[in-house]
Amino acid sequence: MKASEIRNRFFEFFGEREHIRVRSASLIPVDDPTLLFINAGMNQFKSIFLEKEQAKHLRVVNSQKCIRVSGKHNDLEEVGYDTYHHTFFEMLGNWSFGDYYKSEAIEWAWEMFTNVLGLDKDRLWATVYEEDDETCELWKQVTDIPHERVLRFGKKYNFWEMGETGPCGPCSEIHYYVGEDTSSQNAEGVNTSDEYWELWNLVFIQNNRLIDGKLEDLPKKHVDTGAGLERIAAVMQGKSSNYDTDLFRPIIIAQEKVLGVSYQDNLVAHRAIADHVRMLTFSIADGVLPSNEGRGYVARRILRRAARFGRSMGMEKPFLTTLVDSVVELMSDAYPEVSEKKAHVKNVIKAEEENFNETLDRGLEKFERIVSDLEGKTISGDSAFKLYDTFGFPLDLTVQMARERELDVNCDGFDEAMEEQKEKGRREGKFKMDVSDFDWTTVTNGSDSQFVGYTESSTEASVRRFHSDPKKIVVILNKTPFYGEQGGQVGDTGTISGDGFEITVTDTIKEGEIHLHIGKWQEGDTISSPKVTAAIDTNRRAKIRKNHTATHLLHRALKKVLGEHVQQAGSLVHPDYLRFDLTHPQKVGTDELKAIEKMVNEQILLNIKLNMTVTSFNDAKKKGAEAIFEEKYGNEVRMVTIEGFSKELCGGTHVDRTGDIGFFKITEESSLASGVRRIVAVTGHGAVDYIMDRFEQIDTVKSLLNCGESDIAERVEALMDQRKKLDKELKQQRTSESRDALSSIIGKARDYNGIQIAVDQVKVSDGDDLKQIGDWLRQELKRGIGVLGALVNNKPLIVCVVTDDLVTEGSKANDLVKMIGAELGGGGGGKAHLATAGGKDPGKLREVLQKSADIIIEKLKGDS
Ligand code: ALA
Repeated sequence: MKASEIRNRFFEFFGEREHIRVRSASLIPVDDPTLLFINAGMNQFKSIFLEKEQAKHLRVVNSQKCIRVSGKHNDLEEVGYDTYHHTFFEMLGNWSFGDYYKSEAIEWAWEMFTNVLGLDKDRLWATVYEEDDETCELWKQVTDIPHERVLRFGKKYNFWEMGETGPCGPCSEIHYYVGEDTSSQNAEGVNTSDEYWELWNLVFIQNNRLIDGKLEDLPKKHVDTGAGLERIAAVMQGKSSNYDTDLFRPIIIAQEKVLGVSYQDNLVAHRAIADHVRMLTFSIADGVLPSNEGRGYVARRILRRAARFGRSMGMEKPFLTTLVDSVVELMSDAYPEVSEKKAHVKNVIKAEEENFNETLDRGLEKFERIVSDLEGKTISGDSAFKLYDTFGFPLDLTVQMARERELDVNCDGFDEAMEEQKEKGRREGKFKMDVSDFDWTTVTNGSDSQFVGYTESSTEASVRRFHSDPKKIVVILNKTPFYGEQGGQVGDTGTISGDGFEITVTDTIKEGEIHLHIGKWQEGDTISSPKVTAAIDTNRRAKIRKNHTATHLLHRALKKVLGEHVQQAGSLVHPDYLRFDLTHPQKVGTDELKAIEKMVNEQILLNIKLNMTVTSFNDAKKKGAEAIFEEKYGNEVRMVTIEGFSKELCGGTHVDRTGDIGFFKITEESSLASGVRRIVAVTGHGAVDYIMDRFEQIDTVKSLLNCGESDIAERVEALMDQRKKLDKELKQQRTSESRDALSSIIGKARDYNGIQIAVDQVKVSDGDDLKQIGDWLRQELKRGIGVLGALVNNKPLIVCVVTDDLVTEGSKANDLVKMIGAELGGGGGGKAHLATAGGKDPGKLREVLQKSADIIIEKLKGDS
């Protein structure tokens, strides 16, 4: 029976029993910080079990995409080595939310397996939580399973929990004997031998595990079941390996083709790659991007493992993208999203694999060196960290490679090295003002730093306290219009003035909720009276406001033009420009940039009034507000709405109407890291200046070329053609001059024991010409060694040639050139009859050429 039919029969069977079919949830959990990836069908129903949400239907059925590579459920180590564990798999499940309970769950599971799918009863076993007598009895009452096939186990096997916290309960599992000889089955094999596979887990959710480890009873009792489709398919298709089923075979066949290695010749690597490609396709389709953190790092680790398995089969080039098609073809009927996102998935995998490919070889070499220098059987934490830090080898990849050599890795040592680096980073990191060291002078008492800067640019205020040292003055006020640097928006500047003093504020930062105004004394050197006027630089703030609102418009436009996968990875709102880092697998094309600019400018021209509201986080999310770093937001959030276009949670300062931005222009698009792009843009006067500057440059070009704007391209092309022609002519001329000069160079050659040593400087256009002339010289020398030097692009370059007879006698151009190259301050290499070397300092060429005959003679003397 095909896997797709098994899925359908499952849905039908439970559909007939009043279960509503629901879609698989995305692999990225929504609002559940306890999970990196969806790891079970029940995840999406967690809040129903916890009574935070009411169930729309009391019975549901689905087939859930799951990933188990992190946290409580992590099967990575087994993947590839056995035939039935996966990083990504499909879980068929049926649920009851406070409706039916154990009896129906058991009866239906048995019926589904034995009647609908026709599994062999002589191979099935049931396990029950040791304290759960009721379930034990039910198995005997509602099914015809032989009683000796119902076994009791402890918590480890029969108490299921989704994570460190959350809904959980005793469970009952159905296992299947996959061995050849049914008569050799015994109870001891269950949960210990690879010949008994767990096929279906029936969980009786009745508890909630709390953060302190305690269990509480849930108000209602629920059923949560999960059956692994891949394993059921293997059993139904008479296979002893999931990889031999129709869910994997086409992928493996595609792998055999691209890798040129048969499945039988490298089972582990083939299995791991097939597993990993499925995991990558599904997770990327759901919005994961390889990165250095969180689920992005899981995807990166899996991709790098897969790439290395490919390399272990001799694959030098990136190859994983070629396998995506087979996964999509197999899975798109059940999961249309993989086909919708196919191009994106391929782009992401391609960029990431190409990137890793650059360091993979060097990392593998390093690994070999580590292994050959190893005393004992354990690779040190420092070595594993070096592989991680310099070559991008995730720890589990190093562990995997070590395992193939029967070696261990000191993972604790790795963690220590990692911690040390982080600590160093923290020490060297951004200077953070340590207020605890300040010598504060208190002026008045009361609450601090009420922010009035959304509406006021200047205010009367009281100084609470200040700190003054020779380098700076730091002031804290009771209220302030100064925005403290936060959420990418830079701090305000301005003045704080009072009786007998004035402070120029050069920056404002936030320490918790306190605004620190940092500046210099402009007048006076102390604060004797608390009353001050605090006024920001309104001109500068106006620019910041424009750039901040433009950032929101840009963010939305990026998503609209490039796709919803775009995530903000960082931003800077500066008075002179705005910078936005986004996750996107490839360069943002010129046409896309134009479309984005156009969209932003359209919103500016619509002159929409901005709307700021303070609301609860959940309400804002419900209204579709973009929240970038959720953990930063408290219960009350400020939502900035540009009606009809964008909604974002943001504490920053904005223009009143989009029209205030004036004009928006992108000035730069570049790569920040693999899968992360950076966009820089300007607004308002900055954008106008930028455009005017461009026009000025065009005017200069026009006057230089003496033509109108529309003729520039044509003129430049003509000039370039002309230049190419002239270059060619010059090259030919130089070569022929140098060729002519050869006889005089040979005429000047020194003689050492009948060996001609010819050295001179020539004029050439490039390194190839120099080699060509060197070769001519070699042909014309009878028995000799030649050294020719030239300046190419103002860098010294030399070629050394040796005639064949001398090569046979042991003189090698590649040895000689190294010695001469060292004098030039550079390296060199090549063949025994012709080799080249280069240096940096053009001034050295003449001197080195003068020395080279002596160097050669010394070498010849030494050799003889
Ligand atoms: N939630 C249960 C499991 O994942 C069914 O095994």
